[in-house]
Amino acid sequence: MGKIDIIKQKKCEGGIVMTVHIGAEKGQIAPMVFMPGDPLRAKFIAETYLKDPKEVTSIRGMLGFTGTFDGKDVTVMGSGMGMPSMGIYSYELYTEYDVESIVRIGSCGSFQEDVRVRDVIIAMGASTNSNFASQYGLPGTYSAIADPQLFMKAMENAQEKNLPVKAGNILSSDIFCDNDPNSWMKWAMMNVLAVEMEAAALYMNAARLKKRALAILTVSDSLVTGALTTAEEREKTFTDMMELALSLA
Ligand code: ADE
Repeated sequence: MGKIDIIKQKKCEGGIVMTVHIGAEKGQIAPMVFMPGDPLRAKFIAETYLKDPKEVTSIRGMLGFTGTFDGKDVTVMGSGMGMPSMGIYSYELYTEYDVESIVRIGSCGSFQEDVRVRDVIIAMGASTNSNFASQYGLPGTYSAIADPQLFMKAMENAQEKNLPVKAGNILSSDIFCDNDPNSWMKWAMMNVLAVEMEAAALYMNAARLKKRALAILTVSDSLVTGALTTAEEREKTFTDMMELALSLA
């Protein structure tokens, strides 16, 4: 809703730094953070949906904004692409800024015939081909899952809004362009719905830190049919997804 004020960031020796990667001061970030991959998308969301949005961080161009939605403080900040990037930002938000909940909003590629472009997916779990979980030294395979309360609230709110959603397992992949064009079929056979590149790292950080996380995704392309969304379709589905995400605030 209008122009964004830029809050003066604290200068430490060598630059503007509050954590290594986030320049906001403590208290400038709300307990609930919405994270699109693209920082310019974060700016668009802040300008479109938030009241009195203020830019609170811009290190490496990873923009973050805090404002209010429905009278509640919320922050919208880019996560960047891939699990290392999401891992860094979500970890610092949870540990240094007392953030309680992070909701990823992004796009994904469908693995299933009945998951079509423009569909909205709520990711119950995030399988992965990444090594992110190896840091925990677990004696087995970890199942990265969404926060049950956020998940249930998102399902209820989608029903109230008459917004059809699909819920299930997704794949968080380290690779966008897989050399083996058939590898996705193995995930599809395990009823994994779609592929994106960030949710598993977010879910694991949340679990390790006893915080909350959820990923809500729109299907931008289909590996099954080769279909792609048009810019217009992406805009409309984005609005549905964003309104559902913000209903969790
Ligand atoms: N995000 C949107 N489409 C994707 C795809 N096909 N692979 C990985 N991430 C995606």
